[in-house]
This record gives sequence, structure tokens and C-alpha cells, in this order.
Amino acid sequence: MKTRITELFGIRYPIMQGGMHHVGYAELASAVSNAGGLGTITALTMGTPENLSKEIRRCRDMTDQPFAVNLTFLPAFALPPYAEYISAIREGGVRIVETAGRSPEEFMPLLKDAGIKVIHKCTSIRHAIKAQTIGCDAVSVDGFECGGHPGEDDIPNMILLPLAASQLSVPIVASGGVADARGMVACLALGADGVNMGTRFLVTRDAPVHQRVKDALVAATERDTRLIMRPLRNTERVLHNDSVERLLQIEKEKGSALHISDIIGMVASVYPRVMQQGEVEAGAWSCGLTVGLINDIPSVKELIDRIMAEAEEIVRGRLSGCFS
Ligand SMILES: Cc1cc2nc3c(=O)[nH]c(=O)nc-3n(C[C@H](O)[C@H](O)[C@H](O)COP(=O)(O)O)c2cc1C
Repeated sequence: MKTRITELFGIRYPIMQGGMHHVGYAELASAVSNAGGLGTITALTMGTPENLSKEIRRCRDMTDQPFAVNLTFLPAFALPPYAEYISAIREGGVRIVETAGRSPEEFMPLLKDAGIKVIHKCTSIRHAIKAQTIGCDAVSVDGFECGGHPGEDDIPNMILLPLAASQLSVPIVASGGVADARGMVACLALGADGVNMGTRFLVTRDAPVHQRVKDALVAATERDTRLIMRPLRNTERVLHNDSVERLLQIEKEKGSALHISDIIGMVASVYPRVMQQGEVEAGAWSCGLTVGLINDIPSVKELIDRIMAEAEEIVRGRLSGCFS
């Protein structure tokens, strides 16, 4: 398949795996890239730039296809050494970086001088336009449906994507709400050049996470996500569980006086416990609305092959048939 995204990244299919904390290791990234998509290692999960260098080497041993590294810019007091992470990316020969969290403007000279293609993931048209203005090669538009941080505007991709398509000239990736061929074809119709999936890739045999995480997501429905941290303007869509219920109760009680320290126990250091130990009730962890569409645990290759075969059938069969 050929779109502006397959051309830009040199990949077979316009399907990307977004950075995922404590999920985006070499196992998943290489499986996605080997299956024709664009896999992504999540830099901050590695803890240090040295560990990221090792993970990049491990991934290169597992695939000869292009893969990306995600750099998430956190709203943190003790900021990670981003410039050193970028050096590790550059020295590891990685040519594609997914940025997220806040504008990558400060780091664009470092990234561009290294010949790195930057795809910035953002949740609003104004931020997408800004990303294009500062030289990003593509934007990933994270709609309200997405797992992780959907922003504060609550605009779903049905609206964001056509707006982005009519206002941007760089290629657009639709992020959030896609789990199958129907979603991918819809996003392409809305103006996207490719799709980014998080939650769907988490529920694959190649995702290096505990089986209980995958089983919890297969069991969940489209009504089982919640939005947390809205009073802090750091909204996150997570899977519902007892910890999340307690967190929401605290948010309700504290109202606008809520401080991050009130809920820190339910949001900090949760990921390793959930993803590696399988303590799915340990706290809040990201999950998109697509969880309602996920009913099986295929390999990444089975998933991507299925999406591509069904997408072709939808376009050449069902849709073209509508015009006969
Ligand atoms: C468990 C999990 C962890 C995530 N961690 C990150 C992260 O560290 N950085 C980031 O930019 N996005 C993160 N995301 C967001 C994904 O990269 C992607 O944008 C999102 O999942 C797309 O929505 P979907 O889940 O509907 O496919 C995470 C998503 C999930 C489900």
C-alpha cells in the first residue's frame, strides 16, 4: 500500500505503533516493523539514555526494517535528560522519532541536524499547525477516543481528522480509536495518511506484558474506560478498576483544590507493577475506547495482515460496490 506515510517512513503499510510506557520494548517494536508497520521503542521506559542505546541495539538485532523511538515530554519537575536521549537515538542510527506531551520545538535543531524525521503527536489542530510550522515532518492526531492523554478539548477524530486534512500540508496519522480495518479505512477517508494504534497492539502475543493485562483488556467493553486527572489539566484515559474508582472519588471530594500529591499513589510507579507483574488493579493505566473492539490476542503479524486484507475488501468490495 502506498500513502504519504509509507513513503515518508519507508514502510510497507501505513500502520504505526505509538510509544507505550513499559510496553514499547524491542520485542513489540520489532514485531510491528517486521510485519510491515512502524514499531516504536519508548525512550523514557528505559530509564537512562544508556539503556535506550542498548534497547535500540536489541531492536536492530530483531529487525532490519525501520523503527522509531518515542520521546514523551513530561510535565515534570525533574526533567529527564532529553538531549542525551536524542544523542542515544542519533548514535543508534534511528531515523524516526515520535514526540508527544508538549511541543518538541526546543529539540528540533538537535533532531533535524541528525537527519531524523519527526512525527509529533498532539490533540488539537492548533498544536498540529504549530508542529508543522516548527518543521515536523508529519503529525499524529490523537483524538478523544485515544488511550493515554487525549488533551482537554474532547474532540473525536471524526472531527479532528478532516480539520487537520484541510489545514495541514504535512502527512497526517490518525491516532486513537483504531483497532481494525474499518477504523483504518474510515481514517483514510477522513483525510489521514496512516493510523497509529496503542491499545490494540498492547493486546497482541508480541507485547511483552503480563497475560493478565491482555486478559483484562479482552474482558473490558467500550464503557470501561475513565478520564482521570482532568482537574489538573493532565487528562488521561485509563482502564476502569477499583484504584481508579478511589482516585475519582478523591477528585470529586477535593474539587478544584486537587493536588497531584492527593492521587500520586494511584498514578506514579504503577506501570511496571501492571505491565510486568500483572497487578492490573495496582493503579491507573492507559487504555483507549478501542478496548470495546478488542476480543482476541493475535500476533502482531496476524493483526496487521488481517487489517490489510480486510481494508482491501472494504474498499474494493463493500465501498466500491455502493457506486455500482
Ligand atoms: C498502556 C499505554 C501506554 C502509553 N504510553 C504512552 C507514552 O509513554 N507516550 C506516548 O506518547 N503515548 C503513550 N500512549 C499513547 C499511545 O502511543 C497512542 O497514542 C494511543 O494509545 C492511541 O490510542 P489507542 O489506544 O486508541 O490506539 C500510551 C497508550 C497506552 C494504551
